[in-house]
Amino acid sequence: KLPWAEPFKIKMVETIQQSTAEERAKWIEDADFNLFNLKSEQVYIDLLTDSGTGAMSDKQWAEIMTGDESYAGSRSFEKLKSTIQDITGFKYVLPTHQGRAAENVLFSALIKEEMVVPGNSHFDTTKGHIEFRKARAIDCTIEEAFDIENPHPFKGNIDLNKLEEVYKTYPKEKIPFCLITVTCNTSGGQPVSMENIKAVRKLSNKYDIPVYFDAARYAENAWFIKQREESCKSMSIPEIVKEMFSYGDGMTMSSKKDGLVNIGGFVALNNEEVFTVASNFTIIFEGFITYGGMAGRDMAALAQGLRESSNEQYLECRVGQVEYLGNKLMEFGIPIQKPIGGHAIFVDAKKFLPNVPKEEYIAQTLGIELYKEAGVRGVEIGTLLADRDPDTRENRYPKLELLRLAIPRRTYTNNHMDYIAVALKNVYDRRDEITSGYNIKWEAPIMRHFTVKLEKS
Ligand code: F0G
Repeated sequence: KLPWAEPFKIKMVETIQQSTAEERAKWIEDADFNLFNLKSEQVYIDLLTDSGTGAMSDKQWAEIMTGDESYAGSRSFEKLKSTIQDITGFKYVLPTHQGRAAENVLFSALIKEEMVVPGNSHFDTTKGHIEFRKARAIDCTIEEAFDIENPHPFKGNIDLNKLEEVYKTYPKEKIPFCLITVTCNTSGGQPVSMENIKAVRKLSNKYDIPVYFDAARYAENAWFIKQREESCKSMSIPEIVKEMFSYGDGMTMSSKKDGLVNIGGFVALNNEEVFTVASNFTIIFEGFITYGGMAGRDMAALAQGLRESSNEQYLECRVGQVEYLGNKLMEFGIPIQKPIGGHAIFVDAKKFLPNVPKEEYIAQTLGIELYKEAGVRGVEIGTLLADRDPDTRENRYPKLELLRLAIPRRTYTNNHMDYIAVALKNVYDRRDEITSGYNIKWEAPIMRHFTVKLEKS
């Protein structure tokens, strides 16, 4: 068998700037040691997120030129709607400006005070939109997901016992739906198996609870199902996607991931009543129901992007590139989460920097060291992100201190991956010298990681 190579050639390039170690040391200090405060020009390879950072294809750019900007009944909306219907099987479509806006629209229709929403490690904004409505997200992810070394092939799976416990504890009026996130970003870009999705549906039917998807990376999830689930090996990606969604009542989507566009989102669902209520919220929060916060041209480019992300050669290369980087890091002995996820590498910062005390933000320290070493920007998934306990105001120390290296789609080459791997190895080689981290100089009362100001300990 031949090795995979990119199923595209490059038609346009954007220059990115290398810098010196001296410049970077000054820039990160000026940024109060917060990677979010860096200007993009100060970053050589940006792995902060895979969201909205991918490259569009020539066909998507062609759609940009022919998009229809009509306020109502736009041709581009019709195209997007029929594409989503065709791919997902859901009947109704509401466009929104991004994923969290889709959450806002759908949750406004479904979630009331004191409700609970079980699911697999809800994403931050998802949890935020649940808690904002004075409801609660209950994490029912399988235990294997919390062991970074456990090679379980579907670490995004929902533990059916935990889920049934929720269904038995609360009356069904208090459970608006169960939410399955594919792939599960919070647990490391880990997939959910078809078998698990089917079983969640079956159990939820028994208790008469709807099932929705947070589907930002559904195509990558389908790729993993095809690779790792015997019963789905001979199915095509579109067939797997259709079957996955057939077990749900609807979905929210951040199109900035598997939609292969830079901005956009949508809600898709089957229930007419929910659609009617959600339509009103779309109009209040987003815009008229045939554009919902998106330009016509952006809807047209999204329709094309959704088709492209289900292409098998694309997915093999996409997930393969993340795996390529992960394998390089493992060859160097660098501790990362296993198995390698779909959109990012998660570096185990506690194992990487054993001499930095947890009070000094280990994963953030590693992120700063990698930036200073090579101009590569990752993001902390650790104590800064976990924030303080709302009651005691004490730091919450999560089980894992991770540095996430998210890989944008179709953006960097494997030479960039080699560069990143060597950069991290260089830091790893001098890990014994890194014995201290950072203190907080200033922080916001919530979501502090975005704006926190740090100083050297
Ligand atoms: N759901 C998941 C699973 C996500 O990963 C994200 C965003 C959202 C919802 C929200 O979508 O950003 O379009 O409003 N994740 C990005 C990340 C920000 O870096 O992981 P959005």
